Amino acid sequence: MQNLTLVKNNKKNNDLKSFLKENWNKKYKHLLKTKGAILFRGFDVPDINEFNSVVKSVHKKILNYEEASTPRSKIKGKVYSSTEISPQVEIPIHNEMSYASKFPQNLWFYSNIVAKKGGQTTIANSKKIYDQIDAKIKKDFEKNKIMYIRRYGYGLDLSWSRTFNTKNKAKVSNHCKKNKIKLKWIDRDKLLTWQINNFSLFNPVIKSKIWFNQAHLFHRSNYDKTTKLLFNKVLGKNNFPRDTKFGNGKDIPLSYLKKIRRVLENNSININWKENDILVLNNLLVSHGRRKFSGKRKVFVVMTNDK
Ligand SMILES: [Fe+2]
Repeated sequence: MQNLTLVKNNKKNNDLKSFLKENWNKKYKHLLKTKGAILFRGFDVPDINEFNSVVKSVHKKILNYEEASTPRSKIKGKVYSSTEISPQVEIPIHNEMSYASKFPQNLWFYSNIVAKKGGQTTIANSKKIYDQIDAKIKKDFEKNKIMYIRRYGYGLDLSWSRTFNTKNKAKVSNHCKKNKIKLKWIDRDKLLTWQINNFSLFNPVIKSKIWFNQAHLFHRSNYDKTTKLLFNKVLGKNNFPRDTKFGNGKDIPLSYLKKIRRVLENNSININWKENDILVLNNLLVSHGRRKFSGKRKVFVVMTNDK
């Protein structure tokens, strides 16, 4: 993939911090902006403390994971587990937090334990994805935008307290108001939220539009067969814990999502992790996902902004 730069260290001095001190501003900062993906391999990054300090040596603006979509635990400082979604589930290519009004510019992944089988992080060029999606599909999405719907409190997805990092209902309401999320409290502890966001984003560095959304990932069609059957039975087909529609409330045709998913798979590149690898992605250029896996896999993530 032309987006990915592999930086392999074979020298005796394999300290990534000192390597970046010398080369980040000179070279890699620019590469991340223009190409979008850098894999640092063969450096001495034995644990998350070192990983944390590598990221901090380059970025001042380290972010919290707010408005969570995936179960993630804060491990140390602002280092999170990458996702705790079942190894049996493939995570489709997506742009991090593209459903939200605020999203990170960069994602730093650190591979601490490599899965026995599978577990690759997938990456794809978000500009190519945008270019390859049918014109009619793009036109409909650009015009109508995407409505992200979430239902909390049914015990079948993340709780609202985990997503919003608080147990205080007033704080949740306040956060939603500030971030253009509509909400409705139902019964004592159930919450319905919906927000409308764009299909694409203009990247000023490459002067192009990129695909930037999670319509396919939030849509009820993304659940596996067993889960769909369960949700249909327990909640009814219009009450899944998460779903997407067009911004005007109309259903997104399944044929649209099918075509988009095909474009995503056609553009996916597997990153076959090695222990202590660090992968940096520009979220505004390169999207990511995860293959199914077996065995133990530990990948951590830190999200950053340039300013
Ligand atoms: Fe992600």
